[in-house]
Amino acid sequence: MRCVVTGAAGFIGSHLGEHLLEHGHDVVGIDCLTDYYEPRIKEANLGPLQGHPRFTLHREDLLTAPLPDLFAGADTVYHLAGQPGVRPSWGAHFADYAVRNVLATQRVLEAARSVELGKLVYASSSSVYGNAETYPTVETLRPQPVSPYGVTKLAGEHLCELYRMGFGVPTASLRLFTVYGPRQRPDMAFSRLVSAAVHGTRFELYGEGTQTRDFTFVADVVRAMSDVARSDFTGVANIGGGSRTSMNEVIDIVSGLAGSIEVHRLPTQRGDVRDTAADTRVAFEGFGYVPTVSLTEGLASMVEAERLAGVAA
Ligand code: NAD
Ligand code: UGA
Repeated sequence: MRCVVTGAAGFIGSHLGEHLLEHGHDVVGIDCLTDYYEPRIKEANLGPLQGHPRFTLHREDLLTAPLPDLFAGADTVYHLAGQPGVRPSWGAHFADYAVRNVLATQRVLEAARSVELGKLVYASSSSVYGNAETYPTVETLRPQPVSPYGVTKLAGEHLCELYRMGFGVPTASLRLFTVYGPRQRPDMAFSRLVSAAVHGTRFELYGEGTQTRDFTFVADVVRAMSDVARSDFTGVANIGGGSRTSMNEVIDIVSGLAGSIEVHRLPTQRGDVRDTAADTRVAFEGFGYVPTVSLTEGLASMVEAERLAGVAA
């Protein structure tokens, strides 16, 4: 099958590309390597994909790329490209969030109308919930984002639902809960924490460390994406890791795996939610989703990857 992956050079997109190639698919990647974080990191993410005979990369912006041509003959479009990051989405930065998360998604959906897709999988976000009223949180709870980023991810999701119901585009929006694993974005907590433990640098902790997240290993996420593409499921589903852990607990686990960490405390950041926890029954019933990687296993794989990168450098 032919698959399109937008955001193929990113953290999750590069893992998804590898997974799809391993399972025998042809993969067309689209990514313009934005400078949200260093593009050379994204070049490195592409390393395992480039050179594969069934992978092609179009280094183009979704805002201007000839999407109907790129989508022609595709069975699935995985739409992961976007401006990530909860905390920097305030003020003047919001324009990038509006353009890359809302306008780009609308352009993807317009192009999807012109081709016969089996599925359009959209990487939505737990940030749509804000500080949810109940945990674990179900998809039917009214979303109340507390960051501009969350507002744009919710707008993208609403657009998917609109094109699904209005034009029959078979969209599946997966609300991903804090994804981690090797190649995690450098602005995210675990990549910084593992780097601090392995290299003996300082970790800046926002708040008291009592905030909790339903952390989800990237291999579980890419499997959920490819499974939903092959299922009849359309609509919105949570994808979580199966447990809820505080940052203080995570710091203890990483210290145990890689050595003690110097923690420098900073205030809670604007836009951060207090807690997240996914009710994943919709994903289980819709396409058999069950998370398989425990937090300790997943963190151990990050520590190993960080050590190997240090040896290779
Ligand atoms: P990432 O920044 O590593 O990957 C996103 C990629 O999209 C980047 O390589 C970037 O260059 C590309 N991109 C952005 N705008 C583009 C455009 N207009 N045209 C072409 N390419 C463009 O981020 P990630 O952590 O891999 O996240 C991937 C997606 O999953 C994002 O949409 C994000 O909102 C969503 N998501 C991520 C998490 C998480 O915990 N990482 C959780 C929930 C949702
Ligand atoms: C993550 C991703 O960055 C978003 O792209 C995604 O949409 C979101 O998950 C989601 O689930 O929808 P976040 O939960 O903030 O956002 O993930 P991290 O950056 O890993 O932060 C986790 C916790 O660690 C937060 O409480 C944050 O404040 C804290 N943190 C982060 C630190 O204490 N120090 C840091 O240097 C970074």
